[in-house]
Amino acid sequence: MSKLRLGVNIDHAATVRQARYRDDHLSPHAEPNLIAIAQAALAGGADGITVHLREDRRHLQDSDLADLLSLPNCRINLELACTEEMVAIALRSKPAAACLVPESRQEITTEGGLNIVGHFERVRKTVSALTHAGIEVSLFIDADPGQIEAAIAVGAPVIELHTGAWARAYGVDTEKSQREFERLKAGCVQAHRLGLIVNAGHGINYVNAKIARQLPHIHELNIGHSIVARALLVGMQSAVAEMRLALS
Ligand code: PXP
Repeated sequence: MSKLRLGVNIDHAATVRQARYRDDHLSPHAEPNLIAIAQAALAGGADGITVHLREDRRHLQDSDLADLLSLPNCRINLELACTEEMVAIALRSKPAAACLVPESRQEITTEGGLNIVGHFERVRKTVSALTHAGIEVSLFIDADPGQIEAAIAVGAPVIELHTGAWARAYGVDTEKSQREFERLKAGCVQAHRLGLIVNAGHGINYVNAKIARQLPHIHELNIGHSIVARALLVGMQSAVAEMRLALS
């Protein structure tokens, strides 16, 4: 079995910087430095860095993406909405991987993943354009059989299953968390059977990581909030190393 990959989402490091430097993120005083954060995450055992350039630029800025892309030996997974502006940025900047995520209410399914079924043609064209640019495309979706089939139909090689509903219920509502976990497991099996690479993420923390890693056929977990929160106490490198341990 190949080693489970860990993508570390550093958006919330940018959230901290923007809390003070929203209008001046290029100031020499602006901190934390996202490049240093990414390097510390890699030193702690991250296999790649995940960032979400949002349409409202609430955390990551365009210049951050350019800076991160210039880091040697750093695989960048860019999360983006399926809009003309964002797709143009991805095609220009060519990250190794791109994950299409919903940003507006109408694109969101019940649990919060991208509604491929409802936006089939737009997603299909975007997957095709990004793939032709040499970018590995994944789709952030619920573990819903119809959405998984649609991921295949639009030509995506990878999906990222939304673990948020399970993670929210974990340790709070046993019945719901078990039900959600079974749904995730079934989604992993279905997607793997159809030939998709299966990633997962959202709401994974130091407590539930041991369970998340048991999902069948999982290739990569993307984890952000919990690691950045832990980094406030122990530093980014140790926070990532602790997560690696939790996933081992
Ligand atoms: N995967 C995707 C597609 C996301 O949008 C996010 C949140 O930005 C994550 C993973 C990480 O979620 P969390 O911050 O809850 O770990």
